[in-house]
Amino acid sequence: MHTTVGIVGAGPAGLLLARLLHQAGIDSVVLEARDRDYVEQRQRAGILEQVTVDALRSAGAGARMDREGIVHHGIELRFDGRSHRVDFPGLADGRNVMVYAQTEMVKDLIALQLAEGGPLLFEAEVLAVEQPVDQPDGAPLNVRYHHQGREQILTCDWVVGCDGFHGVVKNAIPESLRRTYEREYPYSWLGILADAPPVYDELIYAHSDRGFALASMRSATVSRLYLQVPNGTDPADWPDDRIWDELDQRFALRGAPGWRLTRGPITAKAVLPMRSHVTEPMRHDRVLLAGDAAHIVPPTGAKGLNLAAADVIVLARALARLRRTGSTDLLDAYSDTCLQRVWRAEHFSHFMTTTLHKDPAQPPFDTRLQLSQLARIAASPHASAELAQNYVGVPIA
Ligand code: APR
Ligand code: PHB
Repeated sequence: MHTTVGIVGAGPAGLLLARLLHQAGIDSVVLEARDRDYVEQRQRAGILEQVTVDALRSAGAGARMDREGIVHHGIELRFDGRSHRVDFPGLADGRNVMVYAQTEMVKDLIALQLAEGGPLLFEAEVLAVEQPVDQPDGAPLNVRYHHQGREQILTCDWVVGCDGFHGVVKNAIPESLRRTYEREYPYSWLGILADAPPVYDELIYAHSDRGFALASMRSATVSRLYLQVPNGTDPADWPDDRIWDELDQRFALRGAPGWRLTRGPITAKAVLPMRSHVTEPMRHDRVLLAGDAAHIVPPTGAKGLNLAAADVIVLARALARLRRTGSTDLLDAYSDTCLQRVWRAEHFSHFMTTTLHKDPAQPPFDTRLQLSQLARIAASPHASAELAQNYVGVPIA
């Protein structure tokens, strides 16, 4: 099988790329290791920047998002028993975010791809990306994959690794040329999904002496909540009541002793590692990386999904320009263009993570610094504008 663009991975990055290329008249094939159910059930984040919302709409994949998604105009910060609202449109040129689960976005894109797009093969695990030995430079690349019980080859002019953090495509970039930057955090998140109506209409990010907590949502009847736990935590050690009790303590508000989350059956529970990771460059010759395959951010800044979307928006434009004009200028700038946005998001996600979480080893002095930073955000329009503009994201030039 031959195609112009071989896409490895049917997460948000791979699926949105295939859709944007389809609209630009560029053929592609998507190879996904897991089955459709797994990919559509995987619980992930749910905050979309305006850039991602616009891309889904222009890709013809925004109808259900516009029907079921919830536009949010701000977030609440809770610290030291007080709360402060960060108003997005007022501080970030009218921009907002949309609450729409990544799981639902993936379902929409898969349905569209299977209905109108090029081939999307599930249970097609890519083993390696290879330059055929006896072929001149510039010859199509071989993507070796396992599918339907046998090894197969897809030849492509370009290969895009949208295969996540543990993906294999990055191995096609010579190790000597690859640079990796990473940071691990001394805590994790315990995330739950609960059939309980959110008692808040905007996300709450809480700094507390007992550690971080986040109140998010999926709909008017489904809450999504997270709390900071030690690395290596076993979810089985957190029975439902313990989770709700701990969340209520971390969201406690001075002057509102009765403030409580509405409890309900917890339908999903998982511990998520917190890490920052960047692989550079994001392109080597005709092998490109996008999304988690190139960069990971801790989820505190809600950037992971949006960075993946931004990468493929930039890449689709570059491949469309090559197709239209023969110019490789945008493709040659692909890695630098994306890395600028990636490092901004890495910085913001690191800032949100280290300001709002309690490092078990941190001395009281550091806690005071965190509270001073949060008080500064509450008191200064400049400081809260900085947070708001990073949170809603900046348009792609
Ligand atoms: N062959 C084929 N598919 C593969 C392979 C392989 N060797 N390795 C991984 N995959 C698939 C995975 O099964 C997964 O479906 O690649 C896909 C990668 O998808 P994501 O991990 O969702 O990555 P990405 O599309 O970049 O989306 C990033 O997802 O993890 C969240 O927070 C992250 O929101 C961000 C978004
Ligand atoms: C979520 O809704 O899952 C979510 C929201 C904001 C974050 C992280 C996760 O920062």
